Amino acid sequence: DKGNHRHFMEKEIHEQPEVTGQTLAHYLDFANGGYKELDSAIDFKNIDRLYISACGTAYLAGQIAKYWFERYARLPVDSDVASEFRYREMPLDKRSAALFVSQSGETADTLASLRYCKGAGLAIGSIVNVRESTIARESDGIYPTLAGPEIGVASTKAFTCQLSIFASLVVRAALERGTVSAEEGAQLVRSLSEVPRLIKEALKLEGEIAELGRELSEVNHVLYLGRDTSYPLAMEGALKLKEISYIHAEGYAAGELKHGPIALIDKQMPVVVIAPFDKIYEKTASNMQEVAARGGRIILITDEKGAAHTSLDGIKTIIMPNMSEFVTPIVYALPIQMLAYHTAVAMGTDVDQPRNLAKSVTVE
Ligand code: M6R
Repeated sequence: DKGNHRHFMEKEIHEQPEVTGQTLAHYLDFANGGYKELDSAIDFKNIDRLYISACGTAYLAGQIAKYWFERYARLPVDSDVASEFRYREMPLDKRSAALFVSQSGETADTLASLRYCKGAGLAIGSIVNVRESTIARESDGIYPTLAGPEIGVASTKAFTCQLSIFASLVVRAALERGTVSAEEGAQLVRSLSEVPRLIKEALKLEGEIAELGRELSEVNHVLYLGRDTSYPLAMEGALKLKEISYIHAEGYAAGELKHGPIALIDKQMPVVVIAPFDKIYEKTASNMQEVAARGGRIILITDEKGAAHTSLDGIKTIIMPNMSEFVTPIVYALPIQMLAYHTAVAMGTDVDQPRNLAKSVTVE
C-alpha cells in the first residue's frame, strides 16, 4: 500500500526517519552512550581484517563502511563487488571475518562469495533485510536491518538502514578494540542518535530538489563527485539516477577529475558535488572551481559553512543541516535519492519498476 504517495520509492524515502531510528536503537544504547551486547557472528576484537562483499547499492554501503572501520576501529577492510570477489581467487587472511550485505538476502553473487569465505573457515555475518533469506540462513549470525519490506526496485531505506548498522558495528568494534575512548564512543553514539531528526530536516528540502530534478530531466549525462565517504555516495547517486531516469550518470572520486573525466565538462554537463564542510572540503572546492572554469553547471550539496565558502557563478546549492562528520553519508543519502526520484518523475518513467531491472537478482 502506497498510502498517499505516488510511488513506493517516495513512500520508502519518507519512511527513513523512522526505520533508521528503529535500526539504530536496536544496536545502540543511547541512554548510556554505548552499544547493546547482542550476539555477534563477528568477534571484532580478535580479527586483523574484515572482508565485505555485496552488489549494487549494498556494495556501496560496504564501501562507506570501509572508511569508517579503518578510521575509527583501525580495522583494515577489503570491500569488493560480489561478482568480482567470488572469482578473484584471493588468499583469505585466517585472522579475519566476512560480512555480506543484501536487502533481499537472495543475490546470487553475494551468496557465492559467502560460500567461498565459508569454505575457507571464516566467521560469516550478514546484514540482511529479509530474515528468512538464503544468505541469512547460511550465515553464522545476522544483523537485521529493520527497514520493513522494500518494494521499489531502487533501494533507499534499506541503504540508510545498512549504513546505520555498519555505523553501530563500527562503534562497537572501535570500543572493543580500544581505538576510541569511552567518551569518544559516547560522542559517536550521540551523533548517531541525531540521524532520524537530521533525515527529517533533509526531507524538508524536497521542494527545491524537485525543481532541480526537473532541470536534470532535460540532460543526457550527469557527473557526481565526492571525496572520502562522499565518494561512494557519489557513486550511489549516479546509480540511483541511471536506474530510474535512464540518464547516463557516473560517480567519481573528486580527486580523479583531472585524470580523465574533466574532458567531458561543458555547458551541457551538470556536476553534482557532495561536499559537507569537513577537513577535506577545500580540496573538493578546488575541483569545483575547475568544473566552473569550463562552464560546467554545478549542483552543490553541502551545509551552511560549505555554502559560505563558495562563490561560484551560477552554482545551485542544496544546504543540509549541520551534523557530525561521522553521520554525513547516512543523511546526505536523502538529497541524492530525492534528486533521482524527482528527475525520474519529471521524465515520466516507471519509477518503482524501471525497465530491465529486477528487485532481487537471483541469477548471476
Ligand atoms: O538484495 P540486494 O541488496 O542483494 O541487491 C543488490 C543490488 O541488486 C541492489 O542494491 C541494486 O543495485 C538496487 N536496484 C539499487 O538501487
